[in-house]
Amino acid sequence: MIRLCNLHKSFGDKAILKGIDLEVESGETVAVIGPSGSGKSTTLRCINQLEQAQKGKLTIGNREYDLEKITPADLKEIRSSTAMVFQNFSLYENKTALWNIMLPLIKAKKYSKEDARKTALEHLEKVGLLPWKDHYPSQLSGGQAQRVGIARALALKPEVILFDEPTSALDPEMVQGVLGLIREISKERITSIIVTHELEFALDVADHVVFMEDGCVVEKGEAREVLKNPQNERTAKFLGHFADKLEYVI
Ligand SMILES: Nc1ncnc2c1ncn2[C@@H]1O[C@H](COP(=O)(O)OP(=O)(O)O)[C@@H](O)[C@H]1O
Ligand SMILES: [Mg+2]
Repeated sequence: MIRLCNLHKSFGDKAILKGIDLEVESGETVAVIGPSGSGKSTTLRCINQLEQAQKGKLTIGNREYDLEKITPADLKEIRSSTAMVFQNFSLYENKTALWNIMLPLIKAKKYSKEDARKTALEHLEKVGLLPWKDHYPSQLSGGQAQRVGIARALALKPEVILFDEPTSALDPEMVQGVLGLIREISKERITSIIVTHELEFALDVADHVVFMEDGCVVEKGEAREVLKNPQNERTAKFLGHFADKLEYVI
């Protein structure tokens, strides 16, 4: 379970997140949708401590953190209970696919080299990339690189996986494959937050959907309800841009 309470984040004097509340039950997948610039990535980054929030409470399982006063011990705990899949993959360019997965296991999880290798190979196999284990990111397609990013996140066995628009940097022909992989993962009921513009996919995998705009959660609810029958005018307007895509899955 993960919960954010009253998250506030500013950059300089510009308020970006204005009191975000978000809750994901254990095993649940929540999709976060909303226009570009609404603060979706910043919300995930404040959870994972890639950004420091000015205010708010974060609960992961039975541990609660005051985001204003994160101690080095908190930071370590939060980092080891969450894993992020990035829009631009964020792989080490000078490391092979295998080492991209092994390194965080060795550094963050204190695995021995041998155990890290075993776990990394298992996860490369899971995402269908075992034959590419010795390739560098520049030798992989975007879809393959993102599979490595996903394998890296899964290998860490986090309590929560945060996906930040995992398919938006991919060529169109790669998108369905990566969405298919995330769909498979969601069946394992790993607690996940997925920022995505792929609304059909959100409808399919998400238990709940949250709509954000201008640093606020405007609407949240059951995926089908929010996507098919939005109560807020702003949600409806946003979804209107995707109407043709959603129509045939009603
Ligand atoms: N490091 C930063 N410094 C200053 N402004 C930022 C920074 N990161 C994000 N922002 C601003 O915060 C707002 C929300 O950004 P972001 O969370 O990336 O939105 P989204 O992911 O919904 O597109 C945007 O206006 C963006 O310009
Ligand atoms: Mg973003």
